[in-house]
Amino acid sequence: MTVLEFQRKKREHEKISMVTCYDYTSAKLLAQTSVDCLLVGDSVAMTMHGFKNTLYATIEMMCTHTAAVSRGAGEKFIVSDLPFLSYRKSFTDSMHAIQLLMQNGANAVKLEGADGNTDLIKHAVQSGVPVMGHLGLTPQSVHQLGGYKVQGKTDETAAKLKHDARALQEAGCFCIVLECVPAQLAADITRELSIPTIGIGAGAETNGQVLVYQDLLGMDKSFKPKFVKTFMDGSGHIRKAVESYINDIHSGEFPLHEHSF
Ligand code: KIV
Repeated sequence: MTVLEFQRKKREHEKISMVTCYDYTSAKLLAQTSVDCLLVGDSVAMTMHGFKNTLYATIEMMCTHTAAVSRGAGEKFIVSDLPFLSYRKSFTDSMHAIQLLMQNGANAVKLEGADGNTDLIKHAVQSGVPVMGHLGLTPQSVHQLGGYKVQGKTDETAAKLKHDARALQEAGCFCIVLECVPAQLAADITRELSIPTIGIGAGAETNGQVLVYQDLLGMDKSFKPKFVKTFMDGSGHIRKAVESYINDIHSGEFPLHEHSF
């Protein structure tokens, strides 16, 4: 996958698949699938570190996970999130954060929102860095948004989202994630843009879909938002496997002669 492939897939109405990935083992596994793109999302702060939101992701955390993923991902296209405020302090700090992610193995960076970001996006793109936008429910602004709510439900907020999507495209983004927006609005934005959209909780008409790896594998039964589809009972399977291991220790079925030196 390359940025050119993203455009081709949009042109030829071929859906784009993206999944989050935070570690070497999972990257190695995902490299053996046909998934188009791995996202080292700042959701890593929640999924892998147990923080309550993504505001706790730091550039050091994102670099560590990006590097681990890139060691296992083979030729997969890796997008890494610029974490909270890392692109809002100064131009130099922002470009430094981008440089760190790219030098740790990212093929592109993602950032949230359009307001105040378009000059940085233009500069990064002119510097050779592909930038993915992220609109709708932008979790780094959870306190400003008043919680994890569907965005763009009124005429005014829908118009603002369309305006922001056009601004990101004009600034040079090669793709935009639309998170938790009404399906019709996501379809309208997707139709209006020449760059692809990737949805999460944004209906079926976006050019692609993204899910958090742990969510699609059903690793946490207590977390099941409406937009998530679980494709396996990961937590059940893992618990069962570990219980079998413990049983075998007690029954003497592990280790056997073949496991011993
Ligand atoms: O960090 C993340 O996992 C994301 C996806 C939800 C798009 O940004």
